[in-house]
Amino acid sequence: MSDGQQTHVIGWGIGLPTQILTNEKLESIVDTSSHWIQSRTGIVERRIASTDESTYSLGLTAAKQALHEAGMLASDVEMIVVATSTGEYGFPAVANQIQHGIEADHAAAFDINTACTGFVSAISVADSLIRSGQHNNVLVVGSETMSRIVDWTDRSTCVLFGDGAGALLLQGSRKQGGILSSVQWSDGSGAPYLYVENINHDVDRRNFIKMDGREVFKFAVRAMTEATIKSATLAGISIPEIDLVIPHQANIRIIEAAARALDMPLDRFVTNVDKYGNTSAASVPIALYEAIIDGRIQSGMKLILVAFGAGLSAGGVAIEWA
Ligand code: COA
Repeated sequence: MSDGQQTHVIGWGIGLPTQILTNEKLESIVDTSSHWIQSRTGIVERRIASTDESTYSLGLTAAKQALHEAGMLASDVEMIVVATSTGEYGFPAVANQIQHGIEADHAAAFDINTACTGFVSAISVADSLIRSGQHNNVLVVGSETMSRIVDWTDRSTCVLFGDGAGALLLQGSRKQGGILSSVQWSDGSGAPYLYVENINHDVDRRNFIKMDGREVFKFAVRAMTEATIKSATLAGISIPEIDLVIPHQANIRIIEAAARALDMPLDRFVTNVDKYGNTSAASVPIALYEAIIDGRIQSGMKLILVAFGAGLSAGGVAIEWA
């Protein structure tokens, strides 16, 4: 056990497909309207991986940028944790592919699948590995190609999702701040509300996303609110002291409802669901990345990363940015 070791974010990166699918274009694919999508979800467009892009390649781009940003050599990475539910293979893990891709010759690697909660789960595990003293430099990636598991004939789901990746490089140090707390929970009884059957052919469209949108919506608002309160409380932060929430980007109405329930102004929530839709485990790191690049995150700020997803699952992480 290392004494007083705190986990700090020292690098960040994203990987986005270049291809943009707008709501207007979706009107020619399914029976929908741009107005319906934007007013019910806040989504205007999303990125879609081309045939030569993959969960692996997007994650690799994000990972390389995070390393570059941190000024760290890949050979110094000790562990790679990838949050994904859309890897190209049953095995090996996407994390192993990225380990090889960046030539992190001394790193172990594994995937985590808690669907859209994945990045928060991965951060929580990485933080435990660092604070226990087992590893000091851990790369955490969230990468997804949701376009490959959505049913493009089902308007109630295909308009919601997009592809992308984000990565953070985490490092242990005695510096104050960093990751202050993390919480996770699961409610397996909600599995029927959001699932994909794990078979590798598309007979009866069984390996496409199935969702009860209204049930997921209700869970999502509750989960985001509770995970924010629990992670903040555990970190000794009151709700008014939270500077910025970086929520999973599924639907702007979910974020608005959680903001109301928490009695927080919406401008303290980072939102980019309009540009990318729901990129599952990639949405929190992409939103965090954009907030950093836009200068919205300053040293000393108290942040909450919060996510929910299939499982049903949810989690939150409190960070004091150092
Ligand atoms: N275009 C046009 N109409 C659509 C549509 C689309 N893309 N998708 C659904 N509709 C229709 C429905 O068929 C329904 O029509 P009906 O009343 O004639 O049956 C109508 O819109 C209303 O459907 P409803 O399900 O009540 O809409 P909603 O306001 O609940 O919004 C979701 C639907 C899916 C956007 C919303 O429930 C949601 O965001 N849920 C959470 C989903 C989520 O975040 N999943 C991932 C979690 S990680």
